[in-house]
Amino acid sequence: MAERLSLSPPPQWLLSVAPPPPPPLASSPPPPKPDSLSLIRLPLSLFALSPLLLSNASDLLLFSPISSFASRSPVRATSDSFSPVASPKGYASAPDQLQSAREDIKELLKTTFCHPILVRLGWHDAGTYNKDIEEWPQRGGANGSLRFEVELKHAANAGLLNALKLIQPIKDKYSGVTYADLFQLASATAIEEAGGPKIPMKYGRVDVSGPDQCPEEGRLPDAGPPTPATHLRDVFYRMGLNDKEIVALSGAHTLGRSRPERSGWGKRETKYTKDGPGAPGGQSWTAQWLKFDNSYFKDIKERRDEDLLVLPTDAALFEDPSFKVYAEKYAEDQDVFFKDYAEAHAKLSNLGAKFDPPECIPIDDGPAKGAPEKFVAAKYSSGKKDLSETMKQKIRAEYEAVEGSPDKPLQSNYFLNIMIVIAVLAILTSLLGN
Ligand code: HEM
Repeated sequence: MAERLSLSPPPQWLLSVAPPPPPPLASSPPPPKPDSLSLIRLPLSLFALSPLLLSNASDLLLFSPISSFASRSPVRATSDSFSPVASPKGYASAPDQLQSAREDIKELLKTTFCHPILVRLGWHDAGTYNKDIEEWPQRGGANGSLRFEVELKHAANAGLLNALKLIQPIKDKYSGVTYADLFQLASATAIEEAGGPKIPMKYGRVDVSGPDQCPEEGRLPDAGPPTPATHLRDVFYRMGLNDKEIVALSGAHTLGRSRPERSGWGKRETKYTKDGPGAPGGQSWTAQWLKFDNSYFKDIKERRDEDLLVLPTDAALFEDPSFKVYAEKYAEDQDVFFKDYAEAHAKLSNLGAKFDPPECIPIDDGPAKGAPEKFVAAKYSSGKKDLSETMKQKIRAEYEAVEGSPDKPLQSNYFLNIMIVIAVLAILTSLLGN
């Protein structure tokens, strides 16, 4: 969705002022602006009609402003109960409900700025995967097991109950979406809405059914092990991920904060976090910690700001010779980072998952955004070719409103045409006379 992805950096107030009445971090269609056009809409509509009568004019309607603004309902955390069984009959998740759930997640993000914790939620559900175990769900991974208390209580998951509480109302609203899908949908949507790349996601993950199917504690990485690079390889290789993917995925720390009261890492607050948004405090890796970009790599490389966090495992990315190649590249080139991140994130989101249907459910919402599209010089076009389906529908609707059809243009009314020409000439003459 092109409009959603064209983000400018979050405004300064976002990082410095207490919770908002904010403009959206990202980009759903902007509300209609009271524009100067509305003042002259009536006379304009008369002139818009006259050329329609004077010619076939099938392209003129392209200029007419038609907008639709979908109504959306914000979701707030209200529920503490996490239902143990979620999968509906048939597909693991209902495609239409996935689509609607994504819209609700976008609203939730706009009102609570919970992008980082939703990304961490998806990662911690998927990151328990062990490629050496074949059986599902013993192999761990993206199977919704993180909703159970026994797993939420693992030390690595400190704080994630808050994320679950935030999205439980969406789960309640869309019972046809599994937890496993919802966690990954929320994470990918959060990345995209924060200005990150479009993640090529698929859905249909089956949920585990009980807490006895949760993985044992200790499968997620430590932030401060004795030999960080070795530890990262031990953990991520077990998931079937490689050095490039380790570095790219670590770039998710461009979002969010570490809180000493949760993980034990980070400062209580910094100049970047003392005012929120969201609950103030913690230490972020980047200054604009709600914006997904490559500043994580730039900031670690420069290490000029004491207020920005560098975990031992983050530092390892610039110390280990193999990791360093990627970390340097990502610091220099955000497009490369976005491309590699999108691929690695999609792979992470599928780890260990059992898909029903096995061919998975894609949610289509427009072209993928990784690296920006190549510049292509504009070609001359009559405007009749290459119209999008939406534009064609708009044109058809406008024709139908005046009882015409783009396939069969309106009958020309020569008498009326002549009258309009005469009227216009008369007005011009009287204006010139004055
Ligand atoms: C490479 C090994 C990793 C380690 C050692 C690590 C460690 C940590 C730690 C200690 C925190 C702070 C948690 C808190 O105090 O609330 C954190 C937060 C976070 N992690 Fe990681 N992480 C790793 C990889 C990843 C990956 C692969 C992702 C996503 C793809 C990720 C996404 C996040 C996000 C978004 C936050 C911020 C959460 C928030 O602000 O609430 N991390 N991580």
